[in-house]
Amino acid sequence: MPRRPLTPRQTPRGTIAPVHPAVFDYLATLHRRHDEPVLLEMEREAEARGFPIVGRVVGAFLEVMALAVGARRVFECGSGYGYSAYWFSRAVGSGGTVICTDGKAENARHARAYLERVGRWECIDFRVGWAQDTFRAIDGPFDVIYNDVDKGDYPEVWRLARDRVRPGGLYIADNALWYGRVVQGTVVDDVQPGWTEAIREHNRLIADDPDYDCFLNPIRDGVIVARRKG
Ligand SMILES: C[S@@+](CC[C@H](N)C(=O)[O-])C[C@H]1O[C@@H](n2cnc3c(N)ncnc32)[C@H](O)[C@@H]1O
Repeated sequence: MPRRPLTPRQTPRGTIAPVHPAVFDYLATLHRRHDEPVLLEMEREAEARGFPIVGRVVGAFLEVMALAVGARRVFECGSGYGYSAYWFSRAVGSGGTVICTDGKAENARHARAYLERVGRWECIDFRVGWAQDTFRAIDGPFDVIYNDVDKGDYPEVWRLARDRVRPGGLYIADNALWYGRVVQGTVVDDVQPGWTEAIREHNRLIADDPDYDCFLNPIRDGVIVARRKG
C-alpha cells in the first residue's frame, strides 16, 4: 500500500511541475527518516489549509545548504508558522539563531507552539512585521538569508540582502520557477499581478551579479541558491 506523499504534489491549474511528480515522490521517500510527530503535524496542517510551506524535500535541502556553509545565523523573510525555520534550526544547532519574520502575529504564536515541542524555540528569534523593515533594523551580516515573502517583493529583498550575506554565505529563495510561469511567453499572473515578472527580474539580477555564483535548483517550485564570493 503506497504511503501518502510527504508534500502536496498538485501544481496550480495550467502550470508546470518542474520535476515529474513521480520523481518528486521518490525524492520525498528519501527523507522519511525525519518523520516525527511535530513535523508530520505541520505538514498535515499545510495540506489541510492549503498553506504554502516548502515541504519535506525542500526543507531537507535548506538544512543541507545551511550545514554546508556552517550557518550559525540565518535570516528568514516570510516564515509562516515555522516550517522552513524548523529545518534551519536543525542546521544552526544550539547557540545558533534563526531570525524569523512574518506579517501575522498568529503565525508567530503558531510557530512557537510547534517549535517549543521539539526543543527548537530557543534558537528562534521571531519578529512580527514586514520582513524588509525588520531586516533594515537589524545588525550584522548573515550566513544565510532566505526569501519566501510575497513574490512581488522578491527584487527588493534581493537588493536589500545582497550586501548583507557574509562572504561565502548564501542567499536562497523559494518559488524561483513559479511553477513554470517564468518560462511562459505570455505572462501568466493568476496569483497576483506583477508577481511573475518580479520573479523573473529577481532571478536575472542574481544570475548577472558578479559578486555571486548561483544555481537554480528545479526541485518542487525552484529554489535559487546564490553564494557570495570571497
Ligand atoms: C510562502 S509563506 C512562508 C512559508 C514558510 N517559509 C515555510 O516554508 O514554512 C509566506 C509567508 O510570508 C508572509 N509574508 C509575505 N510577505 C511578507 C513580508 N513582506 N514580510 C513579512 N511576512 C511576509 C505571509 O504572511 C506568509 O505567512
